[in-house]
This record gives sequence, C-alpha cells and structure tokens, in this order.
Amino acid sequence: MSGQAARLRELAASGRAGREPTSWLGPRSIAVASGKGGVGKTSLAVALAVGAAQQGLEVLLVDLDLGLANAHLLLGVSGGPGLCETLRAGAPPTDALRRARAGLRLVAGARSPEATARMSGPERRTLLQAIATLGRRADLVLLDLPAGMGATVVDAARAAHRLLLVTTPEPAAIADGYGLLKRLTQADALGPRGVELWVNAARSRGEARRAAGRLRTASRRFLGRDVGILDAVPEDPAVREAARTPCCFMESAPCSGAARAVRRVLGVWRRSGAARSASPGREKESAPCTPIPDFASRRLPLPSSSSAPR
Ligand SMILES: Nc1ncnc2c1ncn2[C@@H]1O[C@H](COP(=O)(O)OP(=O)(O)OP(=O)(O)O)[C@@H](O)[C@H]1O
Ligand SMILES: [Mg+2]
Repeated sequence: MSGQAARLRELAASGRAGREPTSWLGPRSIAVASGKGGVGKTSLAVALAVGAAQQGLEVLLVDLDLGLANAHLLLGVSGGPGLCETLRAGAPPTDALRRARAGLRLVAGARSPEATARMSGPERRTLLQAIATLGRRADLVLLDLPAGMGATVVDAARAAHRLLLVTTPEPAAIADGYGLLKRLTQADALGPRGVELWVNAARSRGEARRAAGRLRTASRRFLGRDVGILDAVPEDPAVREAARTPCCFMESAPCSGAARAVRRVLGVWRRSGAARSASPGREKESAPCTPIPDFASRRLPLPSSSSAPR
C-alpha cells in the first residue's frame, strides 16, 4: 500500500475512532454532492424534497450552488437574492426563504457568480449557521451542492450529518466521485459520517450495480471507507420533460421509474431515522403505480451497517 493510501486509511480510521468533525446541521441533514457536474444532483435533491413534502414532511432544501443556482427554476419559484447576498446585506436569513410547495421551503442560491465568489471561511461558517437555524424544526434538510471539491463542498459535507454522493455509470463520473471522497477524507471532513452512493441515469440495474461496485471497491481499498449503496435511478425521459416545466417529475410523472426510485430512498431514510416520519395526520398516501420490470422488482443492497451514521 502506498504511503498516501495508508495515511488516508488512517484518517478514515481516526474518524471512526471518535474524532468526528462537527455535523452541526443536525441529524436529519443530508448533503447531495458529486465529483463531476451534470450528473443529476439538483434534479434528485429537488425530487427528494418534493417527494418528502408530498408525504407530509417539513423539508428545507438549500441551494448551495452559489454561482449557478437552479433549484428554484426546477420548482418554478422566484430566485431573488440568495442566502449569501441576504447575509451580506445584513438582512435576516428568512429573507432568502421561498415557500416552494406545502411543506417545502427553499433557500435559494444565487445566479451571480461575482456576488458570491470567494466567500471567506468565516462567511461560509455564518452561512451554514444560518442554515442550521432555518432548518431547526425541519424533518429533513437537503443541501444541493455544486460539483467538485471547492471549499463550500468541503464545509457543507462537514456540517451535514450524511453525504449522498450522486454519480452516473460513466467512468468519468465514477472517477470524479472517488476523487471527491478522497478530497473529503484528506480534509478530514467525513469522519464516521455515513456516505451513501446513488447511481443516477442508469440504463439497467446491472449497469448501476457495476458502477456502484467499482466506486465502493476503490473507496474500501484506498480510503479505508465503506460506502452504502442506495438504490439506482433509471435514465428516464420524465426527468428531462419535467425540467422544461415548473413541475417536478414527482408531480408530473409520479409513476415514472425515477419517481419510484426517489420514494424508495425516502423510505430507506425514514426507516433509518435519516428523515423524520410525518407526524400523524400529515402522512399522505402515494399514488398506486404498476410495477416496472427491472428497476422496480429487484433491489440493490441497502447501506451496510458500517457506513450508517451513528
Ligand atoms: N435520471 C435521469 N434521467 C434523465 N435525465 C436526467 C436524469 N437525472 C438528471 N437528468 C438530466 O440531466 C441534466 C443535469 O441534471 P442536473 O442539473 O440535476 O445535474 P447537476 O448534477 O445538478 O448539475 P450541476 O453539477 O451543473 O449542478 C438535466 O438536464 C436533467 O434533466
Ligand atoms: Mg446542480
């Protein structure tokens, strides 16, 4: 084993031994990240948020893509000043909130890179503290991160309780996903935090399983870190169709393969306590859908216990 790999394994092990980096956004906060851009983070973060709200949960979705925010466009709500500009203007963080759906509040990002470029470390900390305050009573807090390994990604991964790593089956996306995990391990940003891998836009379960297996093997071998494998999301025209409208595919195509995949993950999170279940009276029935062969009938392995957050 090379010296660098040994050092990374040591870092992962020291985190497991109890030097947990702060995860002060609370136990129901999940950062949605990817190494490579364009793999579907925002589409899936918005869908998880809409799906959870449809089930009666109180959700806070935070668009942390601070230069090229687009979650508000997928939800059909106004952009306006994002949290960074709001805080810089000395306004209360609630000014950056949009009520996107019943039960779903969005903290908009920004579409002006110059306004948010080069946030300092203290500014990022203030931003994350504001998110912690806004999400205090939420059943689920989702952070849609920009692609790559920038400081916002590292700080947000450290602040959230779990990391949801999105990749497509493409080798470049898997390589970049591994690169991000390596960067976060080097920055000691993960500790014993649960990392879950979600393969998006897969053409079959077999393709998703092979892609997830490659990333998991590399992570175990070179970083000493296990990753849980969540279900896969199929390549689904309903996702692209919905992106042209102010509707999410959870609303326009609730029986699509992608919508079912999102509900399966919400089910896993609710059973594991990553998302709180709706309080009695707020629970909602989801639409009955006929099974789709391949993606609906078989399951990928659920997160292993060693990767589950404490
Ligand atoms: N499962 C899917 N099936 C088909 N198309 C998809 C799927 N998931 C995402 N897409 C499409 O892929 C494109 C990129 O998606 P999205 O913007 O969500 O990616 P992203 O990872 O957030 O990108 P960025 O890194 O730029 O923030 C969009 O056109 C979206 O509609
Ligand atoms: Mg995005």
